[in-house]
Amino acid sequence: MHGQSSIIVESKDVEFYYSGEEETVWPALSGISFTVNQGEYVALVGPNGSGKTTLLKLFNALLIPSRGEVLVKGISTANEDTLPEVRRTCGMIFQNPDNQLVATTVEEDIAFGLENLALPSREIQNRVLETARLLGLEKLLKQPPHLLSGGEKQRVAIAGVLAMEPKCILMDEPTAMLDPAGCREVLKTVRKLNRERGLAVIHVTHFPEEAAGADRIVVLNEGQLIADGAPGEVLTNLPLLHSLGLRGTAAVELAALLRADGCPLPPQILHNRELVDSLCSLEQNS
Ligand SMILES: Nc1ncnc2c1ncn2[C@@H]1O[C@H](COP(=O)(O)OP(=O)(O)O)[C@@H](O)[C@H]1O
Ligand SMILES: [Mg+2]
Repeated sequence: MHGQSSIIVESKDVEFYYSGEEETVWPALSGISFTVNQGEYVALVGPNGSGKTTLLKLFNALLIPSRGEVLVKGISTANEDTLPEVRRTCGMIFQNPDNQLVATTVEEDIAFGLENLALPSREIQNRVLETARLLGLEKLLKQPPHLLSGGEKQRVAIAGVLAMEPKCILMDEPTAMLDPAGCREVLKTVRKLNRERGLAVIHVTHFPEEAAGADRIVVLNEGQLIADGAPGEVLTNLPLLHSLGLRGTAAVELAALLRADGCPLPPQILHNRELVDSLCSLEQNS
């Protein structure tokens, strides 16, 4: 995929006000311009209230820009006639899976969005089975969703979105309700789909370790996009992160403390492994 055809989501100078009284209130977002390509995994970070959830809702056409434009595969989200197509292209996964699970069994829940697509029932059945298999939910199909663990619920919510065969998934702090194992399990599945199927991912997270695994990190502050770069660039910029009340990965933070203590570590340390390797080679050379 090259050039224009690979753009899934495009935000063009977007401004968004929750209130209609534009002159008297601060916009939740302003001047937001960026694009996400097919196959990209973008982490979206920023302090509370910086506009992350608002931006995801704009990409899913749950909200429409007050000014500027959001295009999903070239289609404006402001066009009512194409809303179903936009929502199918960009599926959204919320922070709390309980808000997304509606049916009485896992099977019905995964099929829920598909029922509105006027697909033959055999096709619905096939897609439910395929996504259930993909997310390791085959054994749970007849279970009521409310009896599942947090990680299982979030996987059911993801299966329901993936069954619609989106080009992009928008995840709003999807691991906030999960234990560490559930968290790893969900993120591993999403990363696999991203790598194997070219699924674009926009992942809102306040965990630096999660953001470090992305291809690209976009930083919001007070409704503005203030940084957009590779994890090795954005997450090692501690003056920027600390000024926003954010932090780097544990390795970035510890490397900075050790450097301040006079330890001659190289500048680009992001992951634990890199820190360990650098410390070992210092040890060997001393
Ligand atoms: N439904 C709403 N009505 C009015 N203001 C809102 C609403 N939702 C969010 N906001 C405001 O918009 C700004 C951005 O919020 P949000 O997108 O939720 O930020 P984040 O997800 O980064 O914490 C905040 O100032 C917030 O108070
Ligand atoms: Mg939010």
